[in-house]
Amino acid sequence: MIIIGAKGHAKDIITDPAFYNLQGTNFMFDDITKGLPEVLFEKYILLRNLTEAKEKAFGHSFILALGSPIGRKKVFELFQHNGFQPENFIASSAVVSVLASIGQGLNIMPFCTVFAGAKVGNGCLINSYASIHHDVELGDFVTVSPGARVLGRAKVGNLVDVGANAVILPDVTIGDNVIIGAGAVVTKDLPSGTTAVGVPARIIKP
Ligand SMILES: CC(C)(COP(=O)(O)OP(=O)(O)OC[C@H]1O[C@@H](n2cnc3c(N)ncnc32)[C@H](O)[C@@H]1OP(=O)(O)O)[C@@H](O)C(=O)NCCC(=O)NCCS
Repeated sequence: MIIIGAKGHAKDIITDPAFYNLQGTNFMFDDITKGLPEVLFEKYILLRNLTEAKEKAFGHSFILALGSPIGRKKVFELFQHNGFQPENFIASSAVVSVLASIGQGLNIMPFCTVFAGAKVGNGCLINSYASIHHDVELGDFVTVSPGARVLGRAKVGNLVDVGANAVILPDVTIGDNVIIGAGAVVTKDLPSGTTAVGVPARIIKP
């Protein structure tokens, strides 16, 4: 197993009961942070670049452990293109309905719920205490920050970043590459590429 990312999010993943007793040789990939030790968190061998990953860990699957939608897409595609298989991390306390359909390379963090009929695309991060309600559609590489709620039938495009504790009301449609501020309540559709904040959410960019 290769955990991609070696910071706080990685720490949250490897200490979850679903993961803590993972056996065998495991790796952590970080090609940005300088000065990291050879072994992280006592048992993860550091991989500093793709060449090292291919030499030392080829054949292992990978779990994304970083927060930004663009960063997640970049490493997902890089590793998949180079023959590594994505795996989902679903925390032991998360609940995913048997009637939900979920993609690959997901993180569904502690105390999250994905309800019946929801569709979650590849590479999404549903962070702690967030909920994805019935029949919601999330595109690929959507980050839903802690405590955010995406309510019934809302549609969220690709690479959307939903801030902590934001609420997207039922039936709202969000375009691609949208940023929603922490605590926003999104009552109306948002076009691609916009940033919206506040209650009710208003577009502040572009
Ligand atoms: C929305 C956000 C991305 C905007 O960041 P930014 O583009 O750097 O924007 P700025 O900080 O320059 O703020 C622009 C304006 O929006 C306001 N604003 C920013 N975030 C806001 C928020 N969440 N709610 C209400 N107003 C907000 C600022 O006060 C500022 O107002 P002003 O022009 O009247 O001074 C950011 O503030 C945010 O909320 N990010 C979410 C963080 C988060 O939840 N992370 C989860 C980590 S796990």
